[in-house]
Amino acid sequence: MSRFRLLLTRRLPPDVEARAQRDYDTLPNPEDTLLSPQEIAACASSHCADGILVCAGDRITAEAVAQLPASVKVIATFSVGYEHLDVAAIKARGIVATNTPDVLTEATADTALLLLLAAARRAHEGNKLVRDGAWRGWHTTMLLGSDPKDKQLGIYGMGRIGQAVAQRARAFGMRIHYHNRRRLPPEQELGAVYHDTLESLLQTSDFFSINAPSTPETRGLFNAEKLALLPRGAIFVNTARGDMVVDEALLAALKSGQIRAAGLDVFAGEPNLHPGYAALDNVFLLPHVGSATEETRDAMGFAALDNIDAVLAGRAPPSPL
Ligand code: DGY
Repeated sequence: MSRFRLLLTRRLPPDVEARAQRDYDTLPNPEDTLLSPQEIAACASSHCADGILVCAGDRITAEAVAQLPASVKVIATFSVGYEHLDVAAIKARGIVATNTPDVLTEATADTALLLLLAAARRAHEGNKLVRDGAWRGWHTTMLLGSDPKDKQLGIYGMGRIGQAVAQRARAFGMRIHYHNRRRLPPEQELGAVYHDTLESLLQTSDFFSINAPSTPETRGLFNAEKLALLPRGAIFVNTARGDMVVDEALLAALKSGQIRAAGLDVFAGEPNLHPGYAALDNVFLLPHVGSATEETRDAMGFAALDNIDAVLAGRAPPSPL
């Protein structure tokens, strides 16, 4: 019996790729080059793909969807975020779109705390001092940072990842505040203070973490006006998506001291981030590695394959969009 045909737009972790090759007739991308939307559609056509496994950098535009062969039944993204997919266009063609929620919650929340502490404790400056051979020894006022204990942490987006950030931050003695489309029930809120406006949350937040998806409503949301609402000297963390922040506004706030320090894992236009960030010492930068652990990336790949398996077997996938 012939096997279903699966286009893999990028290289995958070895165990995930092995399972895909075991179960499908795969068209891989051995060079791991980033394919354009048109190239993805062309590969799907040449391979008569039944399914496409895409990753966060791949874009599936309405134009690409229109060029897909009729054989395609499922597009599964190896990510929780799906702003790179035109889900409406995909669904309009009768194709199922899926993502990989849940499995990356813990790793992403760990990264948010890593960034929060790195920004608060001036990790970039300390690391640079040691590596540059410029450290002249211990002294009482060298690289003084800011304690998280007893500070107000504002979380924008209190879904799975936001709640996991709150759980970790409580262990550091932080007081949790949040804004979300809906207030959580008490058993999920666990004492966190709900703010019914983003403005109110910003005004309260000594530390601020973005944990919401990029949508037409949230893109460019954190502009100069919003950042000016934070208490002076706040610490700003983003593990969600870079396009929610106006780079020029954040850079100006970091230079003026309105924001004391930032920890950023995501950027508008990745991997071509605004050059202003690398020029500042009060920003701790990571290259979109929020979910980058061996365990989590395997789980994301297996979740994407579970979705594909289900759709091609005629079942409802675990994580439809
Ligand atoms: C996600 O899953 O959305 C992560 O940001 C990795 O892209």
